[in-house]
Amino acid sequence: MKQNAIAIDGPAGAGKSTVAGKVADLLGFVYIDTGAMYRAIASKVLDGGIALTDLNQIAELARRVRIRISREQGELRVWADGADVTEKIRNPEVTAAVTSVSQIPAVREAMIGLQRELAAEGSVVVDGRDIGTVVLPEACAKIFLTASVTERAQRRWQEMKEKGYEPDLNVLQQELEERDRQDSEREMSPLIQAKDAVLLDTTGMMINEVVDRIVNIYRNQWSGNA
Ligand code: DC
Repeated sequence: MKQNAIAIDGPAGAGKSTVAGKVADLLGFVYIDTGAMYRAIASKVLDGGIALTDLNQIAELARRVRIRISREQGELRVWADGADVTEKIRNPEVTAAVTSVSQIPAVREAMIGLQRELAAEGSVVVDGRDIGTVVLPEACAKIFLTASVTERAQRRWQEMKEKGYEPDLNVLQQELEERDRQDSEREMSPLIQAKDAVLLDTTGMMINEVVDRIVNIYRNQWSGNA
């Protein structure tokens, strides 16, 4: 049976979280940022001084950590074991560590279980890399959101400048390309477009235009299923 869920997948910097949050607000759905969950695990790994090569300890941590996500007045907040990690999970150290942490099968199993539990509670917008393919294959609307790598790097650069960092645009673009490559080539739930997903290239599009397109796709799909 189809699930009242919108799955938004795509590469880093495609604007998934901004767009997904706005779509959720418009429709009154809960927004689940799965990248933030992997980031929360990576942040706990770094805080605990666990080596990125210690797969057993990381798996153990992923199974017991309590992650909570909420959206208040348009702002996503993330907690890990009761501590607010919202800002911390976006720092460059976590960003550098999260790709390898998210490749560990036991970490993915724990997170996928949690994501499905959260999605089962009601109508949701879920963004990530493997939502339409693995986490919620029955989502009634699936979007594969992308944009040119230069535009994605430019957006990330802007975001980081606003947070007070001094990023180098070329380095950011190389890092994005490397993360895309690793996310796409990993064995377990790689980043790929689901067969039934709509491809949306947002290069040159305004955020609200993208949001409207997704809401329309959802309405068409859901009315076809209801
Ligand atoms: O979307 P993001 O940049 O916050 O994602 C952080 C990392 O987590 C990124 O390296 C890809 C990974 N990720 C994943 O493997 N599967 C998901 N469903 C979401 C994110």
